[in-house]
Amino acid sequence: MPSIGSYIPLLSRCCGDVEHTRMETSELKRFLRDIIAEAGRISLAYRARLDGLVVHHKLEKDLVTEADVAVEQFLVDAIRKRYPDHAILGEEGGEQQGVAFRWVIDPIDGTTSFIHGHPFYSVSIAVEHDGRTILAAVNAPVLDELFEAQMGSGATLNGKPVRVSRRSSLADSVLATGFACIRRGSAETNLPYFNRLLPAIRDVRRHGSAAVDLGYVACGRLEGFWELDLKIYDAAAGFLILTEAGGRYSDFGGGTANLYDQILATNGLIHEQVMDIFGQVAGR
Ligand code: 2AM
Ligand code: CA
Repeated sequence: MPSIGSYIPLLSRCCGDVEHTRMETSELKRFLRDIIAEAGRISLAYRARLDGLVVHHKLEKDLVTEADVAVEQFLVDAIRKRYPDHAILGEEGGEQQGVAFRWVIDPIDGTTSFIHGHPFYSVSIAVEHDGRTILAAVNAPVLDELFEAQMGSGATLNGKPVRVSRRSSLADSVLATGFACIRRGSAETNLPYFNRLLPAIRDVRRHGSAAVDLGYVACGRLEGFWELDLKIYDAAAGFLILTEAGGRYSDFGGGTANLYDQILATNGLIHEQVMDIFGQVAGR
């Protein structure tokens, strides 16, 4: 992952003003914090009347609610108003072409958890510059937890710095996973990976929000998270939060060529051990 050190010279070359860039980044950060807090509040208002919630089926098991649409609409309107020349990639909408900055937003990551009244869902937002995530925030409003990260400046949970766990033994490790692959009807599913890894670890958790899971790895509550068939908006913010907390992510082979189709995110210490087991499943 590039450091802020490599990022600033790049910006200064193209903008000619590092100080201006720093100010711009802190303005972006404040704006991001404001809109993700308001997005969380909007989701809570819908959660307060879950019984009457309108749910649509994107696919048989792929759901979108009026809350997803309303939160995304709020975020898109707010970003367009403040930064009209930025691009936006959202889960529920299309992508507009923009210039250097792109906002990657998932209005409600964990829609199934949301619909069923579970607390494990989040609003997830990553801000990219020239294709690299420079800012990230994941707001889990029911948990009252806000994960944030800035490239090169570390990750925080409710304003306090967080680090990944130090557990290095698989037998002591708790990992989260999910089954987006089955909702998608993909040919390759998570089940063989799940079956092979579960006996080797302490336990699994299944929250239903990749963004929450990545935040949990970042703050040491989980040693790792893996899933197949995710999309960039599920994980872009969580990846920066994780790496800024000292963690590592890759595809199951340790690279990035198959990222999002395969995501393995860990505290770094168990990464190779999980990759070895997944390699056996894949016949590598
Ligand atoms: P979502 O709730 O926003 O759809 C849980 O397994 C994780 O997978 C969540 O981050 C969830 O995001 C994502 N996910 C599950 N099924 C999906 C699908 N069919 N398409 C995209 N993402 C999916
Ligand atoms: Ca999602």
